[in-house]
Amino acid sequence: MAYTVPKLKEFSPAALDKAAERLLTALEQESAAVNTEADWKTFRDRWMGRKNGVLTQVNELWLKAAPKGAKRDVGQRVNLARARVTETVEDGKPKRIVGYADAGAANIGEVTVGKGLSAKVKLGSAPAVVEHAVDITLPGNRHPLGAEHPVIKAMNEILSVFRNLGYSIAEGPIIETDYYNFEALNFPPNHPARDTQDTLFLANQDSKPLRDRLLLRTHTSPVQIRTMEKMKPPLRIVVPGKVHRNDPPDASHSPMFHQIEGLAVDTNITLGDLKGTLDHAMKALFGSSVKTSFRPSFFPFTEPSAELLVSCFICGGRGKRNLEPCRPCKQTGWIEILGCGMVDPNVFEFVKSNGYDPRKVSGFAFGMGVDRLAILKYGVDDIQLFFQGDVRFLAQFA
Ligand code: PHE
Repeated sequence: MAYTVPKLKEFSPAALDKAAERLLTALEQESAAVNTEADWKTFRDRWMGRKNGVLTQVNELWLKAAPKGAKRDVGQRVNLARARVTETVEDGKPKRIVGYADAGAANIGEVTVGKGLSAKVKLGSAPAVVEHAVDITLPGNRHPLGAEHPVIKAMNEILSVFRNLGYSIAEGPIIETDYYNFEALNFPPNHPARDTQDTLFLANQDSKPLRDRLLLRTHTSPVQIRTMEKMKPPLRIVVPGKVHRNDPPDASHSPMFHQIEGLAVDTNITLGDLKGTLDHAMKALFGSSVKTSFRPSFFPFTEPSAELLVSCFICGGRGKRNLEPCRPCKQTGWIEILGCGMVDPNVFEFVKSNGYDPRKVSGFAFGMGVDRLAILKYGVDDIQLFFQGDVRFLAQFA
């Protein structure tokens, strides 16, 4: 028998719950019997019709009729019922999918999908386009594939060269302490690199001792110390990551850029190992015909230190391209790629207790700017293009 909204004789919470439960059971039962669009309309009007729908009656017979003291209790149940009715009616609306079941025979399948997964298929002549219909013959939404960012691509290439040599990957924080970024890397207290001209310090730290002050790391070298504190020798790591320097942006500078650091420590590492390793890496990255050259340099944490140059892979080391001056190597035939050197014994002193006695172990380190390498490798003329997020630029690397 169809449900009718009863007049309430009692307004105790228990009686109200019982009445509400009956109403909701009826709602479920009737909703389960809805199959066609016509069924659904009848169902909707019966429950939500303004004039005499169940909800309207509930309002009249339950809420308005309730004695003052019970209004709150009744109101709560009525609100719940209203929410459930609205939800059930909305969910129960059959959705139509119109498509060609068999285009050749001009059989048009009209599929009505209601609650759950029940579906009815009615084949007939072409229906007029139905309101709210989903036309499955329309092309789908495109989700264009992204591409690896050129800096990440260059980074992965470099890392894989060293992975093939048995190096592991290590990482460290971008916000560093003065200790790891400078002190433990043998920077003397007044070294110009500690100057705010280059280094971005976090504000309001004057009360802290210098070594604890936080800064944005200016290179990936602090991860040398962090890793040696955790892992005993022998060690072979490469460290990719972001670094910051207080440089105004232009075509070749960005206050944020990327580096890859390398560190090898063992009992018998020599300058020959450094040269052999880097020569191999440059040939793997830029082609087997490039030559390498080492020029003396200075870094506080390596001794001796060097800059590594590779013969220009753009002009083949000639300095000219078809009589035009070669810009990337500034007509010198050589391109500067990275800084490197043998780990300074003073650096090992900071991690001596973890097995890095400078009398027993030696090592080499190197650090390169990934963005610069990507610029050279892919012929990009402005570093800013890497960070502007313009898909027209980025799509060229897909
Ligand atoms: N950290 C140095 C820089 O940023 C590069 C470097 C790394 C040099 C390791 C020597 C050894 O310029």
